[in-house]
Amino acid sequence: MNVTPASQEVLAIHGGLPVRKTLLPYGRQSIDENDIQAVVKVLRSDWLTTGPKVGEFEEEFAAWVGAKHAVSFSSGTAALHAAAFAAGLKAGDEAVTSPMTFAATANCVLYQGATPVFADVVADTLNLDPEKAASRVTQRTKAILPVDYAGHPADLDPILQLAERHGIVVIEDACHALGAEYRGRRVGSIAHMTVFSFHPVKHLTTGEGGMVSTDNPDFAETLRRFRNHGISSEARQRQAAGQWHYEMVLLGFNYRLTDIACALGIQQLHKLESNLARRRQIAVRYTSAFTQIPGVIPPSIRSDVNPAWHLYPIRLDLAKLSADRGQIFRALRAENIGVNVHYIPVHCHPYYRDRFGYQGGEYPVAEAAYERLISLPMFHAMSDEDVEDVISAVVKVLAHFAK
Ligand SMILES: Cc1ncc(COP(=O)(O)O)c(C=O)c1O
Repeated sequence: MNVTPASQEVLAIHGGLPVRKTLLPYGRQSIDENDIQAVVKVLRSDWLTTGPKVGEFEEEFAAWVGAKHAVSFSSGTAALHAAAFAAGLKAGDEAVTSPMTFAATANCVLYQGATPVFADVVADTLNLDPEKAASRVTQRTKAILPVDYAGHPADLDPILQLAERHGIVVIEDACHALGAEYRGRRVGSIAHMTVFSFHPVKHLTTGEGGMVSTDNPDFAETLRRFRNHGISSEARQRQAAGQWHYEMVLLGFNYRLTDIACALGIQQLHKLESNLARRRQIAVRYTSAFTQIPGVIPPSIRSDVNPAWHLYPIRLDLAKLSADRGQIFRALRAENIGVNVHYIPVHCHPYYRDRFGYQGGEYPVAEAAYERLISLPMFHAMSDEDVEDVISAVVKVLAHFAK
């Protein structure tokens, strides 16, 4: 038994023994034999793409989130692009979004030739501040894109009310939030369009993949056409009807998700409830451990939500520490804990600085949070030992750097 107090243990970064022998990633997929068999079955079938698994996955997904329609895409980014198109964004328009996100949220506005306008986040959840978003709305605003940071739903009701007052579309970026609930409703059934990602670190994976859910049949139809070159019918419908004629009615892309991926998605959807339950269990264990550690601020949860815990981002209370985020990050990494940082605020990236003249300082809440954030490993396949390793490493490193 190790009886050395945490503050006296030699950090791995200083030559001591790491908490773990092998690197624990911050996120990863979990694939079982059913997933593999479902994919193999499609590989032996007639349809590798535009076949029956696509509609099957979309229908099951729509039912699961509680939406009338779900349209699949080759990635979350493609899904965001399609939603921006369906919302009617074009050159001269603006869309209000959060700087505390992956660049894809704002990039989809640029793809349409429109301008992303950032509004700062609230300090507790790091989600779009509805009041600041309201102050950024102009005659040119056509959409608002709240982001459910780390899996904690954005404050959707005031954002939807704002959108209603101005006749604008809410595209919720829920790439972190499949399975989250806001005021008793599942994310995916609330905004005008909700976008999901199926990247391997997410709650459900298809390798790459994405989905838009919506109750609006016009949006659903536009989304379907946009992902298929803007063509008004699909190959399988034409084959079934024995006809060749099709029409391209808008400028779309090939953003289709394959049947191989959709077969995997269907299997993964069947495990979503248990994956979410495991992530929530890990979050409870983390939070109870980290509330005891000076210098660590666990993520906050509002009383009207049930987060999906894509990420578990702690914030460092730098006043209580003799090191900055970079030093603590490197020390945890040396302990073989695969930490990460979400996110460099979008307006701080060189592309956005060069194109829009941002200099830093524009969105102080997001920028201050960024300096303090570290995402700890969070994925449903983590074992109890993995979870305890993360806690031990945080205790060890923070004790070393405590003032
Ligand atoms: C908030 C957010 N939006 C959009 C995306 C893009 O999703 P994808 O990687 O599936 O294109 C991601 C990806 O991680 C994300 O985190």
